[in-house]
Amino acid sequence: MDQLLTPVPTGPFQISAQSPSALKLSLILPTFNESGNISEIVKILSDLLDPAWAGRYELIVVDDNSPDRTWKIALELTKQYPQLKVVHRETEKGLSTAVIRGWQAGQGEILGVIDADLQHPPEILLQLLTEMERGADLAIASRHVEGGGVSEWSMIRRFLSRGAQMLGLVILPEVINRLSDPMSGFFMVRRSAIAGVTLSPVGYKILIEVAARGKIRWIGEVGYVFRERQAGESKVTWKQYLEYLQHLIRLRLSRSSRFIQFCLVGLTGVVVDMGLLFLLSDPSMLALPLTRSKIIASELAIINNFLWNDLWTFGDITRRQPSKRQQLKRFIKFNLICLAGLVLNVILLNLFFNVFGLNRYLANFCAIAIVTFWNFWVNLKLSWRVTEVT
Ligand code: GDD
Ligand code: MN
Repeated sequence: MDQLLTPVPTGPFQISAQSPSALKLSLILPTFNESGNISEIVKILSDLLDPAWAGRYELIVVDDNSPDRTWKIALELTKQYPQLKVVHRETEKGLSTAVIRGWQAGQGEILGVIDADLQHPPEILLQLLTEMERGADLAIASRHVEGGGVSEWSMIRRFLSRGAQMLGLVILPEVINRLSDPMSGFFMVRRSAIAGVTLSPVGYKILIEVAARGKIRWIGEVGYVFRERQAGESKVTWKQYLEYLQHLIRLRLSRSSRFIQFCLVGLTGVVVDMGLLFLLSDPSMLALPLTRSKIIASELAIINNFLWNDLWTFGDITRRQPSKRQQLKRFIKFNLICLAGLVLNVILLNLFFNVFGLNRYLANFCAIAIVTFWNFWVNLKLSWRVTEVT
């Protein structure tokens, strides 16, 4: 009987770009002690999908060695449902990793997930597929759009759910504000949108990982009402809240690391600028005129910053554009942008100090902060832009 199991994918949590077959949809059902639900959900999903999708979809149960032998029951079902596959994990655990391993085992061009406990109404599946066919990269069943809701949730549970969403908005606004229901566990995503990206699955919220790391242009949402469980019990504990916070922070850091690197390089530039200004203009040193010294010091600081940014901050981009001519181009652009930044710096300083009446050091600090953002973004978009060379 064992030979019917689908092998557990191993290695990094990465989805390959090529779907190995012509299948349209791979739908994952993560399970842990769902013996009371698995037969019913497989039947409902098959009945729903067969009319329009027969032969073009697969259902993949990923079970973490459930004590109630859910995987055994699922394996029995494969005789009746040839589109059903079963992955039985004995070492790795956890909902998010189960979903990713399932996608790795899958062959579809669209990768989806639905809870196996019937709390997510399977009927919504067809609407999600319609969204994908209309061109969405990510289609999410949401409790917070028209037609959505929760059934008999206590005030506390609603509050915790909304609180978690608010926390996400604070830490990861540019990702969370695109999702009306970032906690959803029922969605599908185009393989091409997440292929090649290393996913780092912590806890329960695989959707946030996908939305943050994937190339998602268009998001479709379909309302649904979260149902009460009929059989089995929820595996959510307080530990999931901590993992959620850890997940948000990890994503924040990984998304901001380029900017942090850019700021660190900026600091080395300040040291170079200060040091040279001292060497060149100080009466005890070379005693050159101040303006001339400052120009030389600034230019050398710019060269310093450019080299570190080229090597380190934007190193991944540089390696794709290695020729000396391309590097020279980047250097010239970087120089011009820094110069414009300097002008902007002076204008802002004047604005904050003379017009808004801010304290001069606070005004200078604000001006520097804004110019740092400016320098970063414009350089990212112009100097180290990834141009598709054919
Ligand atoms: N393989 C595997 N391993 N499956 C798991 C694990 C695990 O460690 N933990 C839970 N599951 C399976 C359950 O068997 C169920 O099919 C599904 O994942 C959801 O688990 P529940 O414990 O029922 O979670 P919930 O109902 O509280 O929350 C679900 O719905 C929310 C709303 O969409 C989850 O999908 C949440 O992520 C989601 O926010
Ligand atoms: Mn559930």
